[in-house]
Amino acid sequence: MDSIVVTGNGPLNGQIPIAGAKNACLTLMPATLLSDEPLTLTNAPRLSDIRTMTTLLQSLGAEVSTLNDGKVLAMSSHDLNNLTADYDIVRKMRASILVLGPMLARAGAAVVSLPGGCAIGARPVDLHLKALEAMGADLDLRDGYVHASARGGLKGAVFEFPFVSVGATENAVMAATLAKGTTVLKNVAREPEIVDLVDCLRRMGAQIEGEGTDTITVQGVDRLSGATHPVVTDRIELGTYMLAPAIAGGEVELLGGRRDLLQAFIEKLEEAGVSVTDTENGLKVTRNGNGIHAVDVTTEPFPGFPTDLQAQMMALLTTAEGVSVLEERIFENRFMHAPELMRMGAQIDVQGGTAKVTGVSSLRGAPVMATDLRASVSLILAGLAAEGETRVSRVYHLDRGYEQVEEKLRAVGALVERVAA
Ligand code: UD1
Repeated sequence: MDSIVVTGNGPLNGQIPIAGAKNACLTLMPATLLSDEPLTLTNAPRLSDIRTMTTLLQSLGAEVSTLNDGKVLAMSSHDLNNLTADYDIVRKMRASILVLGPMLARAGAAVVSLPGGCAIGARPVDLHLKALEAMGADLDLRDGYVHASARGGLKGAVFEFPFVSVGATENAVMAATLAKGTTVLKNVAREPEIVDLVDCLRRMGAQIEGEGTDTITVQGVDRLSGATHPVVTDRIELGTYMLAPAIAGGEVELLGGRRDLLQAFIEKLEEAGVSVTDTENGLKVTRNGNGIHAVDVTTEPFPGFPTDLQAQMMALLTTAEGVSVLEERIFENRFMHAPELMRMGAQIDVQGGTAKVTGVSSLRGAPVMATDLRASVSLILAGLAAEGETRVSRVYHLDRGYEQVEEKLRAVGALVERVAA
C-alpha cells in the first residue's frame, strides 16, 4: 500500500490548477440514467471515486468512455438493462445511492444496495427515501437493499426536508425531472454542486427553478435529451490548496479559483491573517512572514463553512497564535485527524462535536495514518510546515478525491513523494 512522504521545506510559490468537482461529477454522472441520449461531461476530475461511479453505471447498462486523458466523460444510457446496483460496487462509495432517483424516474423500478463510504458518522439515507416516497415510490428495505418501484411513474409532490442534505436534494431533483406534474422541494441544499446539477439538467430539457435557494420547483417533463456540460470547479480542492501557502508560507495562485464558491472559508482564512486576492485566472493566496491567529469555525451547509474543509483548516490552526474552537455540525464523527495531528505535536482537545486547538510554535514530522479523504490531505498539509519527515499511510483515501496531489504540490516547491509500502 502506498504512503506519501512530506518533508517540510519552507515557503511555496507558483500556480496550482484546480480540477472539476468530484462531488459535482458524482451527481452529474447518474443524470445520464435519465435520458436515452448521450450526456457528455467536460472538466471531469480523474479520481478513483469517478472510476467507481463509471463501473456502477456500466453495470446498469450505460456506456461510459473517457476521452482527453480522462477529462471528458462520454456517457450513454440508451439501454438500461439492469436495474440493480450491487453491494460490491455500492459499498465502496456512498454517492452510489444517487443512481436510485434517476433509475426509478426513468424505468419505474430500481434496486440499490444501502451504501458505505467514508467512516465519518452513521450517514443514513432516510431523507433520500422519504423524498422519493412523497413522489409516490413504493419502497421496501430487504437484505441490505432498497427495492423501489413506481409502476405508474413518479408523481409531483410537495416535500420539505427536515434538515438539509446535499445527496437527498440531488436524488429528489433528478427524480422530479421526469415525474408527472410539479414537485416543490423545501429546505433543500444550496451547494454549488446542486446549482451545477440543475444547470446540466436544464441543458437536458428539465424545467427547474430555485436552485441556490432553499426551495426548488421542478415541472416534470416526458423525456430528457442529451447534453454536454462542464463540471464546476472543485471548491474543496481549491480550499485545500489555498491552505498550502497559508500553512507553509509563500504565494500561490489557484487557477480556476472563484471566491463565490468559498466565501465563508475565505473570510476565516483572512481573519486568521492570510491574504486572498482575485486575479485574472483565479485566486492568489499570500502569507509572507506574518503569523496565523486563532479563529473559531463552525461547519454548516452552504453558504456556511464546509465540513469538507474542517480537517484541513484544523491543520492550519495547530500552529496559530491562541486557542481556536472548531465545531462540527454536519458529521458527528469527523475529528479522526485530531489524534494523528497530535502525533505531530498539535494540542487538540476533542469533546463530542467540538475540538479546541491550542496553537503550538511548530509541528514535528511523524508517521501518521489517513482515516478518511479530507483527513488524509490535512496530514499532508500539516507535513508541509512540520520539522522533518511526515509519512502518511493509507493514502487510498486520498486518491478518491485528489488528482495528482504530489505533482500539484511539487510544482509549487513542496517536497512530496509517493512511496510503496
Ligand atoms: C455530500 C458530499 C460530502 C459532504 C456532505 C456535506 C458528495 C458525494 N458528498 O455528502 O463530501 O461532506 O455532502 O456537505 O457530494 N443525513 C441523514 N439522512 C439522509 C441523508 C443525510 O441523516 O438521508 C445526514 C448525514 O448523516 C449528515 C447530514 O445529513 O449528518 C448531511 O449529509 P448530506 O448533506 O446528505 O451529505 P452527503 O450528500 O452524503
